[in-house]
Amino acid sequence: MLEHAQTQQLNQIAKRLVEPGKGILAADESNATIEKRLAKINVPSTEENRRSYREMLFTTKGIREYISGVILYEETIMQSTHVGVTFVKTLEDAGVMAGIKIDQGTKEMEGSANEKVTKGLDGLADRLKKFQALGAKFAKWRAVITIGQGLPTRSNIVQNAKDLAQYALVCQQVGVVPIVEPEVLMDGAHDMARCEEVSQQVLEAVFEQMAAAGVALEGMILKTNMVVPGKESGQKATSAEIAEATLRLFESELPPTLPGQAFLSGGQSEVEATANLNEMAKRGPFAWNLSFSYGRALQDSALKTWAGKPENVAAAQKGLLHRAKMNSLATLGKYSDAAEQKAE
Ligand code: 13P
Repeated sequence: MLEHAQTQQLNQIAKRLVEPGKGILAADESNATIEKRLAKINVPSTEENRRSYREMLFTTKGIREYISGVILYEETIMQSTHVGVTFVKTLEDAGVMAGIKIDQGTKEMEGSANEKVTKGLDGLADRLKKFQALGAKFAKWRAVITIGQGLPTRSNIVQNAKDLAQYALVCQQVGVVPIVEPEVLMDGAHDMARCEEVSQQVLEAVFEQMAAAGVALEGMILKTNMVVPGKESGQKATSAEIAEATLRLFESELPPTLPGQAFLSGGQSEVEATANLNEMAKRGPFAWNLSFSYGRALQDSALKTWAGKPENVAAAQKGLLHRAKMNSLATLGKYSDAAEQKAE
């Protein structure tokens, strides 16, 4: 059990991360993932290109109004701006907290080759302490659940939930707020009802394992998917339908002591991710704050505009700031087409 004061400290950070009007920028793409993103703009994934892309994101003026924290990858948390200020200090000076992607990616699950479990429990406490010393106030661990023929298996759900709980406990013991990310993938031909059913099983298992491990729910953030139809299902759902299904799920599974749930975008477009969050926030308030922790849905436009060219930095930053602002409005249920169209 954590001391009361420790839990309080974690709770303060967790609440700041999901404060109304604010959310998290997930800029923690692994080198394999950022390589794919950079390939789309024909920029080779060299260390310098990855660094200058992240510098563009993190030096966006005014970002603190909408962004509470940024999740960094291991390489990125060690990097600095071109004038030699570490990214962590750059963010701190801008009033934004730094976090670390602490999981080490996924691997095939033993006995179920088409399912994944997440790596990174070995030596976790020491790695967390190292990144905490570099300034990380929170961490992220992503578990992926695949829907398919006969999938997910019960054992995959339970294994991922157990690993998430173990990770969250170690984070809290070290004094770092865990972002607990069970992601039910959008890939597949399943319908929306199937996504809801699987997401429900996953969240139920996650909170069961959190309780069994003794994780303080006040000192963590959930980062999970919305209830949406599979990408290859041919089904289209409106924002209202997505909001209703997702909230039905959350009302049944999210404990009221949880400070917040910050959505991943998971392959939704920028505008979809914003509009869907807005539909949910409009139906609030809830016991937990609803916020965002988007990767692609915050960066897509900025990445395209940047295109690897220094002369595009200001325009790309404008794009990022606009998305951050739209999502900030969405956490308040105040996003609109008019706001979307309005130039900064
Ligand atoms: P997306 O919003 O692009 O899904 O990324 C969020 C994230 O951090 C996935 O782990």
